Amino acid sequence: MTSLVGILTQIINPLSDTKCDYIKSGAVVVKYSLSKQVQAHMVAVGSAQDLKKKYPHVVWIDQSDHVMLPSFFDMHFHWVQDDVREMPKDSLLDWLNNYTFPTENKFKNKKFADRRAREFFANIFKFGTTGGACYSSVHGHALECAQKYAKGDFTIGNVLMDMNSPKFLQQSSKNAIELVDKFSKKYKQKYAVTPRFAPTTSPKVMAASAKLAKQNGSYIQTHLSENLAEIDWVTSMYKSIEGFESIDSYTDIYHRCHLLSSKTFMGHAIHLRPSEIKLLKKTKTVLVHCPTSNAPIKELGLGSGLFNYELIEKNGIEWCMGSDIGGGPSLSMFDVMESFVRQHKKARVKSATYIKALYRSTLKSAHLMNCAKDAGNLAVGKYANFILVKAPKGNKINKAEDVLKALLSQRWKHREDYASLVEATIYRGEVCYLKNANSLLNILPQVKLT
Ligand code: GUN
Ligand code: FE
Repeated sequence: MTSLVGILTQIINPLSDTKCDYIKSGAVVVKYSLSKQVQAHMVAVGSAQDLKKKYPHVVWIDQSDHVMLPSFFDMHFHWVQDDVREMPKDSLLDWLNNYTFPTENKFKNKKFADRRAREFFANIFKFGTTGGACYSSVHGHALECAQKYAKGDFTIGNVLMDMNSPKFLQQSSKNAIELVDKFSKKYKQKYAVTPRFAPTTSPKVMAASAKLAKQNGSYIQTHLSENLAEIDWVTSMYKSIEGFESIDSYTDIYHRCHLLSSKTFMGHAIHLRPSEIKLLKKTKTVLVHCPTSNAPIKELGLGSGLFNYELIEKNGIEWCMGSDIGGGPSLSMFDVMESFVRQHKKARVKSATYIKALYRSTLKSAHLMNCAKDAGNLAVGKYANFILVKAPKGNKINKAEDVLKALLSQRWKHREDYASLVEATIYRGEVCYLKNANSLLNILPQVKLT
């Protein structure tokens, strides 16, 4: 059985770094196929006038005081760090030792991990995020909980930590490899092999898990060159590890462990040398920019520096965006987009537009996760994955950049406002989040979260 539902709404549809459609009196038509599972695809996206004529018999839901955007991909976040997002951050390594590691240790308790995973992956829809790449703790059962409750286009991995870690988190190399073997076979591309970063993951574990990722079609994710103290620590440490005495750089360590590939997402990658850029390019490795996490400490970031995306693009390297909670203070990709524009504009980077920020938080990420055929923007034939926000008012708002600017630029001093921007989140036609229970959208099917 199939049925059609129409929504009258303003539309913002990202297409590239410089192109984004804006339809002020827009409409979409969604086709629901109601078999065992709800399947819902976009069958028309256009002007309200045209589509009302073309589809006179569909049920129209009037949301014309709203803007529809594709739902977000957050390409680097730690679901087990929700409690340390706003902890004092004087430096990366201190923040990890003082707050993050003790917090991740709580997930050794199975009941706690299960409850928090259920809450977290329901809550993420409030922010309009329905896909991305996620880090779990070192514990196998916590990864299983996250996989159970994460509904969306997510890939998730347990961090691998078999050296230089606090006693309470450190696992044996054997245990790390066994978990990767089991989970990469079980979850395939829904699993991301996740060495936490080179200091905590032995070359033996990195190399063995890279091989398993390739055999089983899993992704790979880790942290690279986030902070200068970290880089000094990593490179001096590896120079005393047998077989790594002659490493050229941080990136070279991962390269020698066969971790670099087009299915590898490297978080941060801020401080890179020319030889590292060459390696990343050659291996088609993807970089994930986390502007809120890297922002100055007074903005609740870790003060790591600003990712030079123009240099990265000039070298033909792919990149996308992530919140990096808890390094970043908020799960909101609107907050990430705003921080991206503000920080790069301050550094006089002219191409840092809201359109670019949106593209790198939606369609580009979908491409890099190999699901752009189905997701990433509001194109006919793709799943109905979208969010609705209240439309900004003003006669001068006639372009996508103006709409996004009006939505985002005034808010950043009250950052919690970004979280409340999203009125509704729809994934594959199902309502995952609806702020107002009386919304006309409540006639759509509701997602089952457990
Ligand atoms: N480097 C290693 N682990 C982490 C982490 O949990 N967060 C961030 N931001 N950087 C890291
Ligand atoms: Fe991170």
